[in-house]
Amino acid sequence: MPISQWWSSLFSALTPDSLAVSTATNAIGAQVQLEGVQKVFQEGEIERTVLNQVSFTFNPGEFVVLLGHSGSGKSTLLNLISGIDQPSAGTVRINGLAITELDERSRTLFRRDHIGFVFQFFNLIPTLTVLENVALPPELAGKSPQAAQREALRLLDQVGLLDRQNTFPDKLSGGQQQRVAIARALVQKPQLVLADEPTGNLDGETGERVLQRLLSLTRDAHKTLIMATHNPEIAQHANRVLRIQDGRLTPVIVHPDALEEAAA
Ligand SMILES: Nc1ncnc2c1ncn2[C@@H]1O[C@H](COP(=O)(O)OP(=O)(O)OP(=O)(O)O)[C@@H](O)[C@H]1O
Ligand SMILES: [Mg+2]
Repeated sequence: MPISQWWSSLFSALTPDSLAVSTATNAIGAQVQLEGVQKVFQEGEIERTVLNQVSFTFNPGEFVVLLGHSGSGKSTLLNLISGIDQPSAGTVRINGLAITELDERSRTLFRRDHIGFVFQFFNLIPTLTVLENVALPPELAGKSPQAAQREALRLLDQVGLLDRQNTFPDKLSGGQQQRVAIARALVQKPQLVLADEPTGNLDGETGERVLQRLLSLTRDAHKTLIMATHNPEIAQHANRVLRIQDGRLTPVIVHPDALEEAAA
């Protein structure tokens, strides 16, 4: 989803009763259950089954890596878990709540309040400062500007960017921009964090540092982290590694050779 659409869906959802959405993810670390999840894309005459009857449970607090070749369905799966997209069939439950049964507006609100999403290309708003970018989610959720800024500053401190709070994103390095995006994803204290190739656009050393920051912030707070990546080295840090192939999700045995194969 393009960034403008993503953010405008958050703005349009900001209505007085927006806080009435379920708070099912208040527990430490969200559980994510996939039950018979099917995703079929139609392109003209052709039907492409990207996910075929996928059933799987992500446990609270674990870090799971999704590997799979380009086009295998990693982003599709993350989009279904976040409620950005809907499956063709099947159910996604987050802490027991079937988000696939919510209407689009409720899914948007649920996502805003309970799920942190980190994208490969950061998706920061170029016309807002670093501080304003990170303060936006709590402001949209109804916090006062002062409270939202307090929260944002706390997160910017945690990602080591307090001194760049008044800078605009285009003045930052890629690694710094991704740290801002991580701060924004975590500012609402989500118990579920989804990351779609968060280091895919960074050089090896910068990517490793950004990864370590994301891992320590999620692990220390016992958050559930699901990350799609092409990088088999990242899988070494995971509690579990899955491979998507031919519409199926299968566990990978964490052995360096097996990882290279699964990521190829
Ligand atoms: N909106 C859409 N309409 C039609 N087909 C789509 C759509 N979104 C994704 N697809 C198709 O679904 C398949 C999986 O795409 P997806 O983006 O999930 O792959 P991926 O594993 O994330 O790949 P990459 O590693 O390149 O990011 C691809 O064949 C893609 O063309
Ligand atoms: Mg992808």
